[in-house]
Amino acid sequence: MKGIKIVTIGGGSSYTPELIEGFIKRYPELPVRELWLVDIPEGREKLEIVSALAKRMVEKAGVPIEIHTTLDRREALPGADFVTTQIRVGHLEARAKDERIPLKYGVIGQETNGPGGLFKGLRTIPVILEICRDIEELCPEAWFINFSNPAGMVTEAVLRYSGITKTIGLCNVPIGMHMAVAEMLEVEQSRIHIDFAGLNHMVFGLEVYLDGKAVMGEVLDKLASGPSMTMKNIVDVGWEKDFIKALNLLPCPYHRYYYQTEKMLEQEQQALQDKGTRAEVVQELEKELFTLYSDENLAVKPKQLEERGGAFYSDAACNLINSIYNNKQDIQVVNVRNNGAISSLPADSAVEVSCIITNEGPKPIAMGGMPVAVSGLVQQIKSFERLAAEAAVTGSYHTALLAMAINPLVSSDSTAKQILDEMLEAHKEYLPQFEKSYAG
Ligand code: G6P
Repeated sequence: MKGIKIVTIGGGSSYTPELIEGFIKRYPELPVRELWLVDIPEGREKLEIVSALAKRMVEKAGVPIEIHTTLDRREALPGADFVTTQIRVGHLEARAKDERIPLKYGVIGQETNGPGGLFKGLRTIPVILEICRDIEELCPEAWFINFSNPAGMVTEAVLRYSGITKTIGLCNVPIGMHMAVAEMLEVEQSRIHIDFAGLNHMVFGLEVYLDGKAVMGEVLDKLASGPSMTMKNIVDVGWEKDFIKALNLLPCPYHRYYYQTEKMLEQEQQALQDKGTRAEVVQELEKELFTLYSDENLAVKPKQLEERGGAFYSDAACNLINSIYNNKQDIQVVNVRNNGAISSLPADSAVEVSCIITNEGPKPIAMGGMPVAVSGLVQQIKSFERLAAEAAVTGSYHTALLAMAINPLVSSDSTAKQILDEMLEAHKEYLPQFEKSYAG
């Protein structure tokens, strides 16, 4: 058997043990022959620690997956069947600035939403597009699966500005919502099905089924009255019961930033005083994780990794790769070209939607239009993502300003400009494309 070759760019990430665990679990049907972990020279130490742990994990599990490491992605790419990216341009230090600077102006500081999301996109998209060029040249048949945030904006950019068509953006939010609903209803996950539609970190459950019976009303009752569904990186501030009932859709944890902006802002400002930004909390967690990973007796994914917001993302990643490889034709929620599946969004844009996963890739399922109450917000975020992707590619100051100003979390044009200017300056090391337009 030939076996599968996987290349993971950003292989030194603390999330990598998630992936390794996922491949080990699925080995009998998903025979990964080679896993290449790629990182940049600054990430050498982390890459060494993570790859040593990966080797111990496969050895303990007794599966013949070869783990390779390199600091040169062009060495890794030839012959790849799947290329995954999990990069963080500017590291957690840049994320801390994304989260901290907007707060000075009374605006939410978040990794993937508002000004923080814009700047993460501006830094990440050019690097992702370089990776795409290498894939086109060195392994044009490979599937390119991106986990790097902001995943929706990145997918939009890959679809618009690269020559790659076999591309999918992936996130753990839908899987997390699915798990949370099963828990709320106290049933096995396999009995639940949710129709998902929207954008990354802006996705809604349109209907929830239990054994084929629609149960949205029951789920929303629980969501409104009990501990509501969230993720480790988002504080659960509860929902207004009547609002949730009127909405009649299952919101994702990130919707709190849009529907509960004041409470979330207050909570972020308080957290900043108590323990710093989420990036700073994660920096501490990472220290703990890497100390654990360095222990030569550790040969499994440590439980502490579940403290990260991206916990369980390996299920999303490995299920997807498995279903493409084995043509499973099951339903998963991914970021792909809309192609008319959501009639209220442009056909050529990236959307996050339930898809049938085949060996030809994901086939989006027709969901109709987004309901009128949320259609405008979703469209607005799509416009934001498109402008952000354009600004990332062109380095146009005015396009970046437009993206910032139309974001629903930014209150005015002058606030947008002030935040933009301060963040461009703070991140200039990672934004070479803005050099000219900013000086002009
Ligand atoms: C969630 C999101 C991811 C994000 C993560 C942040 O899982 O879906 O896109 O990267 O949270 O978690 P962190 O632990 O880094 O705050």
